[in-house]
This record gives sequence, C-alpha cells and structure tokens, in this order.
Amino acid sequence: MKYAKDSLDYHWMPFSANRDFKADPRLFVKAEGVYYWNHKGDKLLDGSSGLFCCAAGHCRSEITEAVHRQMLEIDYTPHFQRGHPSSFELARRVVELTPEPINRVFFVNSGSEAVDTAMKIALAYHRARGEGQRLRFISRERAYHGVNFGGTALSGLVKNRQSFGPGLAGVAHMRHTWLPENRFVKGQPEHGAELADDLQRMVQLYGGDTIAACFVEPVAGSTGTLVPPKGYLERLRQICDEHGILLVFDEVICGFGRMGTPFAAQAFGVTPDIMTMAKALTNGAMPMGAVAVRQSVYDTVVDPAPNEAVELFHGYTYSGHPAACAAGLATMDIYERDGLFDRAAELSPYFLDSMFSLSDLPVVTDIRGYGMMVGVDLAPSSVPGSRGHDAQKKLFDAGLHVKTTGDSAIIAPPLISERAHIDQMCEILRTVLGQY
Ligand SMILES: Cc1ncc(COP(=O)(O)O)c(C=O)c1O
Repeated sequence: MKYAKDSLDYHWMPFSANRDFKADPRLFVKAEGVYYWNHKGDKLLDGSSGLFCCAAGHCRSEITEAVHRQMLEIDYTPHFQRGHPSSFELARRVVELTPEPINRVFFVNSGSEAVDTAMKIALAYHRARGEGQRLRFISRERAYHGVNFGGTALSGLVKNRQSFGPGLAGVAHMRHTWLPENRFVKGQPEHGAELADDLQRMVQLYGGDTIAACFVEPVAGSTGTLVPPKGYLERLRQICDEHGILLVFDEVICGFGRMGTPFAAQAFGVTPDIMTMAKALTNGAMPMGAVAVRQSVYDTVVDPAPNEAVELFHGYTYSGHPAACAAGLATMDIYERDGLFDRAAELSPYFLDSMFSLSDLPVVTDIRGYGMMVGVDLAPSSVPGSRGHDAQKKLFDAGLHVKTTGDSAIIAPPLISERAHIDQMCEILRTVLGQY
C-alpha cells in the first residue's frame, strides 16, 4: 500500500524515535488473526498483541460489526447524569470476571486515565471515611502506570520521568522485584517475597495513616515482565490490611486472560481493593479503560452524599462511549464463547518452554515469564536501549512484531495463537537474536 511520504512529517509519534522511523518507516496497513501486513506487503506475526491489546486476534468481525451497528443507532451519549444501556451491561460483564467483592466499574478511555482515576478514587475514599490525611501513594521502581501526571509520578522508569519535573508530592517507590538469583526462572521466583517489606518501611517512615494506596502491576509488564516472587503480593496485601492502605493492581496488561485467568488477581490468589484495566477490554478495537473497585469502596464514596448530589467529581466526555462499549461487549462474548482464558492457560507451558529455549543465545542475559507473557533481556551495547531498538527493527524485517522497552523484548502473542505460530516466533527470535 502506498503512503504519502511527506505526510510523515506532520505526525509527532508517541514513544517513538521520530527521525529514525520517518527515515525508514515500518507501517502496518492490514491485520487479521495473529498477523499484520506492512506497507510493502510483507506478512508479520504479531508477537505482542499490538501493544498487549488484541488478545482475541485482529479484525474480529464480531467486534467490527457490533461497533458499526452501534454507531448507526446512536453515535454518542453523554454519561454525566445521562446514560446508555451498553455501559451498564458492559460493567456487569466485567464484574463477572473480577474477583469478589470487586463489583463496581468506572469507565475511562485508556490505561493512563484508569490509573489517575484510581488515584482519585483512593483519595476520595479516604476523605469520605474521615481520613483525608491519607495523601501519599506508594509505587515501585520499574513500574509503568501510563503517562498522565498521576501515572508519571507513580512510574519507576527514569526516561518516563526525567523530562517532566518533580511530579506529584508524596509518591514513594519500593524496590523493583528483579533479583540476579532469579535469572531464567520460569513462573514465580522463589526469592524476593521480603521485598514487599519495603512497604512496611514506608509505613514506618511516613506513618501508615498517611498512605492512601499502594499501586503495583501484579506482573510488571512494560519494564520487561517481572513476575512477582512467591509470597510477595500476599505480603503486600497483609501490610495494606494492617494499615488501612488500599491495594491497587494495575491490570492494564495482565487483565483479560494474559495470565491464563481473567485477571492476575485470580492467578496469584490475591484480591486488591481496586483494579485498573484497558487494552484487551475491547481487544484494542476501541480506546477504553476501566477502574473496578470493591463495593465497600463505592459505598463509602457514594453513600454519604445527598441523594441528588454528584458523589465523585470526576469523569471524561468519552467515559462509556457507546462504540467502545459495543466493542467491549462483543469482546466479552468472544472471550466467553471461545474460552480464551482457559486456552491461554493451556498454551502457556508450551509458550514459556519455547521462549525459554532461547536462553542459550549469548546475547540473552535473562528470560522471565508467566502465562502468555515473556520478557527477554538482551545484553546492552555501548548505549543502553540501542540494542533493543535495533532488535525490534530487525525482528520486524524478519517478520515478527515485538514491543521492546530499553533492551528487553516483551513477547505476548494473541491468546488465539497456535503452537505453530509460537514455533515460528521462536525461530525468528533465534535467527535475529543469534546474530548479536
Ligand atoms: C500497567 C499499565 N498501566 C497503564 C498503562 C497505560 O495505558 P495507556 O497507554 O492505555 O494509557 C499501561 C500501558 O502499557 C500499562 O502497561
């Protein structure tokens, strides 16, 4: 497919090396199932579900048609003091998947908005309980919680922070959970549960009653798949309970089957108070995110307000957009009908074994993985990140789309993948990474 070369200049691309890309663009023009096609007509395997979005594979006609039908019927509804039936139904469907007692859902348009919304809900919750002094948030090094100012403050990735000032006051970071002794461990590592005691140290440093919430990605995704050590999330839950701190799981990547369960909360048997989600909520077909909370959190914020008063002064023009809800509902139907979360659980051992077979490559310094997500660390060249950048271009040219962060490649194929697709991905990875 042709493109207007001079049009490239006008779009300031997100999280991209703009000049490098525009000098030699790698454009996608078509997608179907586990495949993309580039503008030169080459077919590529999608090794990262787009950006961890397209769990059910690309261009599902059920989703496209549902969105089309919805747009013909009603294009937009405000959701402030108004509504459309689809958002209520989608909330109900999401709650069928969340662990009890998480059963109230607030819609947003992205993962970043979900994170900032969760921060506001946490603050509003404590204020409604008469604990308005709880203004601090605890996050973690190497965390990625999106790019709005709240999420940037929670972020633990230096490049995402350093250009943007000091961020929110009152955010402190626990240590990340990567440990050298856990290199090349498949699944949950044995070592490192004690890293959760960093939260206890924050309690001792700041006072537990000043902390509103602790945010973690159950498996830290964007930084390169850091699987929680055994006992780590349980310990965080325990410390939060002891000190009245809300535990927030950012499930933007982990949610909707990536871990072989609806959410990571079920995979690891730990129930947070608040969950954020996005991406695979609509299979990536429409922008949408959500925050799901325990009923007690909802009731605490909502019940004290007078009946005719707005309870939470927060929301977006496009919260619960009918087209996004239509996509979400069609996506939930596919997940249920095709049993995709169980399929992910079944495929996971094969996928993990295949990816871990790359351990012998000299450039590979670590591999981690859980469910249908694996991080492969590459030995950095003289400039950190440049090998990862180079590798994602070479992999693309060899027929595999993979998301890299710094020098880590994150492999998270669609949950509809067949073993043969995994074999092919592994072969391409071996050929390309074997050249370093
Ligand atoms: C854990 C997590 N939280 C939040 C976000 C931000 O989501 P979005 O890019 O939709 O704003 C991401 C994106 O990758 C993520 O992985």
